[in-house]
Amino acid sequence: MRDYNYDIIKEVGSVSYAALQYGKGLVKEGKGLLETADAIEKFIIGKGFDLAFPVNLSINERAAHYTPTVDDSTVFTGNDVVKLDVGARKGDYLGDCALTVDLTGKHARLLEASSLALDNAISLVKAGRKLCEIGREVEKTAKPMGFNPIRNLGGHGVERDNLHASIFIPNYDNGDDTELEEGQVIAIETFLTDGDGEVHDGDIVQIFQKHGEANVRSPDTRKISQFIDSHYSTNPFAMRWLIREFKSEFAVKKALNDLYATGALEAYPILLEHSGGQVTQTEKEMIVEKDGCTIVTK
Ligand code: CO
Repeated sequence: MRDYNYDIIKEVGSVSYAALQYGKGLVKEGKGLLETADAIEKFIIGKGFDLAFPVNLSINERAAHYTPTVDDSTVFTGNDVVKLDVGARKGDYLGDCALTVDLTGKHARLLEASSLALDNAISLVKAGRKLCEIGREVEKTAKPMGFNPIRNLGGHGVERDNLHASIFIPNYDNGDDTELEEGQVIAIETFLTDGDGEVHDGDIVQIFQKHGEANVRSPDTRKISQFIDSHYSTNPFAMRWLIREFKSEFAVKKALNDLYATGALEAYPILLEHSGGQVTQTEKEMIVEKDGCTIVTK
């Protein structure tokens, strides 16, 4: 058996879902990305939880990993398909869920395919189910509707203090015959596109994650490094959070550079659909059971 407190898993799941629904209502034409991300993060903190990762607001061919900069002046427009990905955290328990808001009114079918693919995939989840079978189901739903799954993005295991743990749950049949196990916590995320179906790193980096000890000499960097350890542990954080705390963009960028150089810091650049295609994301977190699963982000 896993050393999990399933009540806490359900609790972070339900707060994550509440934040997702709250955020969905905020994504409107003319509204700022920064105020939206701030409001959702405040919502989670107001419930007495921490953040599992910064609120992601990724628009159009940006599939994932955009979080607003500290002085972001971008507003949502009527040309935007917005992926909202949020997660609450309690101690080392993590929530993770996502949905897509179409402000263009032109991509209803892509959104429909994305949630249908997720529902179909979830209907297969149980102990003993092979990962490739879940991926095959996503692809089987998307293709006839005219869309491609994104092959190098997918779902994942969720362990304590490790959001993208152990397994990768594909959005196509990648031949992985690893089986789901009873008691495992997973997030299935379907990424569909009207483009080629692959993402690459973009040049914007606002999300970072620190692993373990870093030997740094500069006192400023050491201070920032200690702050990261005590406030975010090994979970992802936004550059904006640090700049607000330390009131110096220069010091924060220097610290992140110093830490990156030691190998203790991971950077998560935005992910762009290769052919500039439109991207949708739908994600739920669940507990794998003998004959099915229990959704926790509800
Ligand atoms: Co996820």
